[in-house]
Amino acid sequence: MSTPSSAASSDVLILGSGLAGLVCALHLADRRRVTIVTKGALLEGSSAWAQGGIAAAMAREDSVGAHIDDTRVAGAGLCRPEVVERIATRAPAVIRWLQTQGVVFTAEPGRDGALHLGREGGHSARRIVHVADSTGRAVQETLEQRILRHPNITVLEQRVAIDLVCSGARGGERRVHGAYVLDRRSGEVETLDASSVILATGGLGKVYLYTTNPDVSTGDGVAIAWRAGCRVANLEFIQFHPTCLYHAEAKSFLISEALRGEGGRLVLADGTRFMPAHDARAELAPRDIVARAIDFEMKTRGLDCVWLDMTHHSREFIEEHFPTIDARCRELGIDMARRPIPVVPAAHYSCGGVVTDAQARTDIGGLYAVGEVACTGLHGANRLASNSLLECLVMGEAAAADILASDPPPRPALPAWDHSRVTPARESVLVAHDWDAIRRLMWDLVGIVRSDERLALAARRLEALHAEIASYYARHRIDNDLLELRNVAEVARLIVRGAQQRRESRGLHYNRDVPETLAEAVDTVLTP
Ligand code: FAD
Ligand code: SIN
Repeated sequence: MSTPSSAASSDVLILGSGLAGLVCALHLADRRRVTIVTKGALLEGSSAWAQGGIAAAMAREDSVGAHIDDTRVAGAGLCRPEVVERIATRAPAVIRWLQTQGVVFTAEPGRDGALHLGREGGHSARRIVHVADSTGRAVQETLEQRILRHPNITVLEQRVAIDLVCSGARGGERRVHGAYVLDRRSGEVETLDASSVILATGGLGKVYLYTTNPDVSTGDGVAIAWRAGCRVANLEFIQFHPTCLYHAEAKSFLISEALRGEGGRLVLADGTRFMPAHDARAELAPRDIVARAIDFEMKTRGLDCVWLDMTHHSREFIEEHFPTIDARCRELGIDMARRPIPVVPAAHYSCGGVVTDAQARTDIGGLYAVGEVACTGLHGANRLASNSLLECLVMGEAAAADILASDPPPRPALPAWDHSRVTPARESVLVAHDWDAIRRLMWDLVGIVRSDERLALAARRLEALHAEIASYYARHRIDNDLLELRNVAEVARLIVRGAQQRRESRGLHYNRDVPETLAEAVDTVLTP
């Protein structure tokens, strides 16, 4: 994609082109000049990988009230009620907005105009609006066409946001004016100025060795906001998806919860079902419970994986409902109509992030955070399935409305990036080594089940790695790998700090040294 000369200066700079970024851009572009900066290609990100769908109370037998209740039950006492209410209430309207943009959701056969609604864990009704099992791709491809055609939107691909440019003292009145951005192809750093900046950089699954997330999910937005002086919250609540495909040749391939919604059963090698012994809701219990149950079965029995059994369905049913998952499994020699699918839990979603209010505003004037990077209070201690794309849609709309409500303030001239004191790196093995070390450490010590001793060990090791990486960063010319390593190290430390600060077990955070849940639910807010 080309770089128009005007890209260095725009009204709104959006960092990230997942659903959050594209929704913000489309709501702004008729009245503001927008630049989207994105690390890879436009559609790279979790959004295009989303399978199950978008939660919205659209069925006659469902209600917004039930969606609110289910979200709050999953959130284990930590959801912000006003945010949950607003997002669940807006859900049917944002589904209709997507339809007006051109998204064609899977329809209910024989019921004119009615959408087929999937079912997922923790939902008391069929509530998941979807496009077969590749909802994210369908939505993103449709919005991409709108974005590319809009005259007020400039897209800069292969650009990595490094840090924000802000004025004002930390802890005082502070305002954002733009960002430094690395062009991955030329290695040059550009200074992009804007009246408002939206962080839409997505999640942080790559902090863990095993994840369902794409490579771009390295927690950059959380690290960037933290370094700029924003508070972050609830980062200890990492959602592990119970069913990631377990296969030597499949990296990060999700087996959607929608399969369990259609009766999929979790079994051991001999076909014995184990979920009913862990929770009355069995395979449709919230994700934290299912992931912990699988972790327990694997560790106590010494298993490498468990299995998801869909063999009660015909091949026709599977091809109709799960064409993408079926195709991938068959490529790997697994016919799910005939034999169970090997699965393991993997890091999937960050419920915590940059603290925002209900308009997606952060602690810094003009800086917004939308999507998985943000902590709005919707998810509390555990996200309800398919509430994430929904949050991108509603909060994207809210951020845009807030930006449009006032005229853009004047923009100061910004200092250029200074790399006069750094030299090219001589050995990339140092970066690769620390990258592997952090991700394994997080998987082994800060995973599904935690303990005080493991967290203390993780904290000590991460402090040393963080200091070493900061020193390396100060001396060497940057590239994408070094930027991601620096961010992963920062975010890993914040996750561990959050986990150590929480002296209870709640939702996704389970510490076996403090297994009880305290009566009062309190956010873990970290202040830079
Ligand atoms: P993303 O879609 O991840 O986009 C982030 C963007 O930021 C990318 O464009 C990336 O390149 C860019 N970026 C990152 N860092 C930088 C940087 N430093 N500079 C510039 N650009 C940067 N949720 C649901 O609600 N329903 C589902 O069915 C569902 N299924 C899922 C399946 C999978 C396999 C995964 C991984 C997640 C799923 N989720 C689902 C969660 C949901 O997809 C994500 O939470 C959501 O898409 C996040 O959207 P986002 O726009 O915040 O981030
Ligand atoms: C899935 O399809 O299982 C993922 C849904 C989600 O993460 O919300």
